[in-house]
Amino acid sequence: MGKKYHPDAEELNNMLERECPSMYSLLSEKGKSIYFPKHGIAKQSKEAKQARLNGSIGMAMEDNGSPICLTSIKNTVSLAPGDIVPYAPNYGVPELRNKWKKLQAEKNPSHIGTTSLPLITNGLTHALNMTGFLFLDPGDKLILSDMYWGNYNLIFNTSYGADLVTFNTFSGGYDLKSFEEKIQSFPGKQVILLNYPHNPTGYTITEKEAEKLKQIILKSAEEGNKILVILDDAYFGLVYEPQVMKESFFSYLSDLHENILTVKIDGATKEYYVWGFRLGFITYNSKSMNEKSYTALEDKTAGVIRSSISSANRLSQSLLLHTLNSDDYKKEMQEKYNLLNLRYLKVKEILATNQDEYNQLFTPYPFNSGYFMCLKIKDGIDTEILRKKLLKKYSIGIITSKNFLRVAFSSLAEENIPEVFEGIYLACKELDS
Ligand SMILES: Cc1ncc(COP(=O)(O)O)c(C=O)c1O
Repeated sequence: MGKKYHPDAEELNNMLERECPSMYSLLSEKGKSIYFPKHGIAKQSKEAKQARLNGSIGMAMEDNGSPICLTSIKNTVSLAPGDIVPYAPNYGVPELRNKWKKLQAEKNPSHIGTTSLPLITNGLTHALNMTGFLFLDPGDKLILSDMYWGNYNLIFNTSYGADLVTFNTFSGGYDLKSFEEKIQSFPGKQVILLNYPHNPTGYTITEKEAEKLKQIILKSAEEGNKILVILDDAYFGLVYEPQVMKESFFSYLSDLHENILTVKIDGATKEYYVWGFRLGFITYNSKSMNEKSYTALEDKTAGVIRSSISSANRLSQSLLLHTLNSDDYKKEMQEKYNLLNLRYLKVKEILATNQDEYNQLFTPYPFNSGYFMCLKIKDGIDTEILRKKLLKKYSIGIITSKNFLRVAFSSLAEENIPEVFEGIYLACKELDS
């Protein structure tokens, strides 16, 4: 006999299994167990909103029914108290969810498929963590490139027991052959994590590479594998070269095959430069899903939100919505894009000008987007000793890992970029024996 779940979870599971069995088969045990309580406090409070005398809310109200908001807070933020202090809905503020969906469509015009309504999370980290909750059982393989954001270890391995299995990131260009070999070695349930623009390398695949990557995933789906593709689009929009994929890879996978479920994880934190706002979004697409099954998956996801953070920050959601509805924000975004683009061009220029000297000690990995770029440091130079020397002797802070070094040009003034690379060069020279 199968495991007994809560009746609300059973209802969602039965529906998903009936409507989109391949998607249902991707759910983890936790993912099958979770549900959004149909008759819980959140639901009852929502219904009680219609009441003349509402004694249902776990908040404190003034006599006139508006939420209590300290004057010192009211005086700091020029928004109505109702946009500052109340709990946000567990799924996120509806106007912001709809606005984000509309923006996703604008920014990814070739995405032709249907999608769920984005759910609002506490930053991308939380959205990634929820994906682990919903789809990864202990021992499941998570396939990703061998250079990756270190927090994936804590999120997917430590928290959910998934094994991180890596493919080679570069071999000349992006190593699609290594990717294909890796997914072929794990038939059945395939969970793939892709991140463009990439942390740490600052690489986004070209349009040609994206097309090839799509064909590899499609072939695997046609062979009967059930595929979950998690897209970490944290740095979306910051692409500095032509021929590089401008839309999310979500567009390429849009309604591609019944055996593919794509989870788009994006957010305001990096893209709109509001890191501490902690605002992320999670959106689904699968050819196998319809409005009803999207709603069921949204309900499960909202159950994870309810059980982990209850709801994302109201003030952040109000501020972001306010910004996205303003006349000026697109112009402001363009200005900040230009600023980062200039820094990117300066890094390119410095590396090209000093190529003969620098390449004896380090070579850049391919980069064309995002916040970062990486240098491959000559064998024999200990990157941890290098990092410490840079800090102590040159007062330059960078990140190192194994045999590479990451420079966040996003956080360096253009005029200081030459000094940073010259410092790295001099420090490497001193350590090169
Ligand atoms: C690739 C990538 N994804 C996700 C995140 C986390 O984003 P957030 O601050 O929204 O949790 C980061 C942060 O460094 C990142 O580099």
